[in-house]
Amino acid sequence: MKKYVITGATSGIGEALTKHFSKENIVFAGYRNEEKLDNLKKISDNIIPFYVDYAKPETIAGAIDNIKQKTDKVDTLINVAGCVVAGATECISVSELRRQFDVNVFGAFELSQGLNPLLENGRIINISSMASYGIFPFISPYCASKRALDILFNAFSLENKRNIKVVSIKPGVIATPLWSKSVKENTETMDKCTDYKDESEYIVQNAFKNEKHGLNVQKVVNAVVKADRVKNPKPSYCVGFDSWAASVASKLPQTLLNKIIKSKVKKLGVKG
Ligand SMILES: NC(=O)c1ccc[n+]([C@@H]2O[C@H](COP(=O)([O-])OP(=O)(O)OC[C@H]3O[C@@H](n4cnc5c(N)ncnc54)[C@H](OP(=O)(O)O)[C@@H]3O)[C@@H](O)[C@H]2O)c1
Repeated sequence: MKKYVITGATSGIGEALTKHFSKENIVFAGYRNEEKLDNLKKISDNIIPFYVDYAKPETIAGAIDNIKQKTDKVDTLINVAGCVVAGATECISVSELRRQFDVNVFGAFELSQGLNPLLENGRIINISSMASYGIFPFISPYCASKRALDILFNAFSLENKRNIKVVSIKPGVIATPLWSKSVKENTETMDKCTDYKDESEYIVQNAFKNEKHGLNVQKVVNAVVKADRVKNPKPSYCVGFDSWAASVASKLPQTLLNKIIKSKVKKLGVKG
């Protein structure tokens, strides 16, 4: 049996990965909400839950100790836990920006650093996003966090002496509760952002549409399984046509790309 650590195991992509890998492997599964613990345990006897809340960085050291007490080897760490901080850049508070980086970057970074000694010859698979291409307005904290995650872990893949391979999975829109959670978590920012009312309304409607019409989580599971299995995984994998299109668009000259995006942003403001 191989040993996996999966964060964000209580919902969406992380839950689907936990269900998949716990069929034949031991999975250390990260949760932040006590109320979801029973459901997590019910998935399989191969699951060992561990508590971590990246919005409370003081909980990370305990999570690392907890895992280290139970194993001296991890084959694959899958960093899934994440959230979306959204809104017009001029309305986003620094504390919200900090929360975005705490959850999407610093949490994964600290947990990975703590587990590196156990990961010799293993893999770290990060669930990044097509947002890491950085071309989406009104979710700039999210884009910045995913880009930062990719840069830090790519450097780690080049530097580390433990033969740990690192993969960034970049899904496009996936149908998970992430979208409605993001609406709830960003309501305060949007409400106070009266100069961008139309744009905020668009973001909310778009989020609900994404939750309904996004790709099935299984597409991400398939990409992770491949990245985990192949001898020499690529540094990154796009999941979905939208992600591939974002990767292509991001290679356009920035002046041209900005012109295209700005014309779309203007239309949002006009339409409401
Ligand atoms: N859905 C998409 O379209 C999409 C696209 C590209 C990339 N992604 C990325 O995929 C990853 C998983 O997202 P998802 O779509 O599966 O969303 P999800 O269903 O909301 O799952 C997110 C998971 O992260 C956990 N989490 C959130 N905040 C946390 C914190 N402060 N500390 C620890 N855990 C925390 C959640 O716990 P709770 O269950 O308690 O909320 C949940 O288990 C994220 O990194 C996201 O950025 C998603």
